[in-house]
Amino acid sequence: MGKDKSTAPTISDLPGVGPAISDKLIEAGYSDMMTIAVSSPKELAEVAEIGEATATKIIQAARKQADIGGFETGVALLERRARIGAITTGSKSFNELMGGKGFETQSITELFGEFGSGKTQIALQMCLNVQLPVEKGGLDSHVFFIDTENTFRPDRITQMAEGLEMDPAEALQRIHVARAYNSSHQMLLVEKVMELSKEFPTRLLIVDSLTSLFRAEYVGRGALADRQQKLNRHMHDLLRWGDINNGAVVVTNQVAAKPDAFFGDPTRPIGGHIVGHTATFRLYLRKSKGNKRIARLIDSPHLPEGEAVFSVNQSGIGD
Ligand code: GTP
Ligand code: MG
Repeated sequence: MGKDKSTAPTISDLPGVGPAISDKLIEAGYSDMMTIAVSSPKELAEVAEIGEATATKIIQAARKQADIGGFETGVALLERRARIGAITTGSKSFNELMGGKGFETQSITELFGEFGSGKTQIALQMCLNVQLPVEKGGLDSHVFFIDTENTFRPDRITQMAEGLEMDPAEALQRIHVARAYNSSHQMLLVEKVMELSKEFPTRLLIVDSLTSLFRAEYVGRGALADRQQKLNRHMHDLLRWGDINNGAVVVTNQVAAKPDAFFGDPTRPIGGHIVGHTATFRLYLRKSKGNKRIARLIDSPHLPEGEAVFSVNQSGIGD
């Protein structure tokens, strides 16, 4: 354990964590040292079906392994902020709304809106825009795309690449798509992305849709607390990826046009305040005339609220 730096200890190396417990922990999203280190004995005991005393020992061991780090000086924070990059949306007014340059790294941008409001189209466009050189508004990088609704369309990417005068085949080479089959799988894929990002630096991670699987699996009032807890963990995993890789995270979230059976208020995105508090930028998208769409920035830490009009064209997102 710990001899070779490339094989960092995993949770199954923790004393008291055998294969069965390890499986339960991973299944519940407690798949890395940090997550276990910051958990409470009570919650760990519950998810792993072990006694609280055992849970306490596991947590203590995880705390020794996890790089808890801790305090950063204001100067270090300033330096980190100075490294924030941005990816153009393809629309000038949309970029303006986002502070001038587009979607920022070290943050999560949540796109929420009803069906057809343009969430997936923006997600696909960002897969290409991130590949652009910095002077053209990109970060010259690959992208990870976690697809929960089977909406990734290579042929649409081809159209958009042509709009940018990019070679479609080359562009597709730099997009890494994984289909998520259930919410646990979706969470595990973030772990996978975390690993793959060590091999080659990647500055954009997209989850389309963030909430659809959670919503389908955790049905009814009784499941609400559980779902929120998982979503919370998922969001924090995503944010951690963004911080470590200086990457942008873009997630989509559908709101029902008609009141949802479990959420009375139709304008409330799925996941409610959990997603809202973790997302750094929340954008509410709605349809306008024809191919026009309106994005409204809501609750941003350092940008004024406002709206931008953009369009979804054959060649992609534009003004
Ligand atoms: P849900 O995933 O159903 O919640 O919707 P969404 O918000 O992801 O919608 P999406 O991004 O798929 O937007 C769909 C809209 O984009 C359509 O109504 C079309 O107006 C437009 N669109 C989708 N594909 C194309 C295309 O190939 N060409 C053009 N010109 N427009 C397209
Ligand atoms: Mg969609």
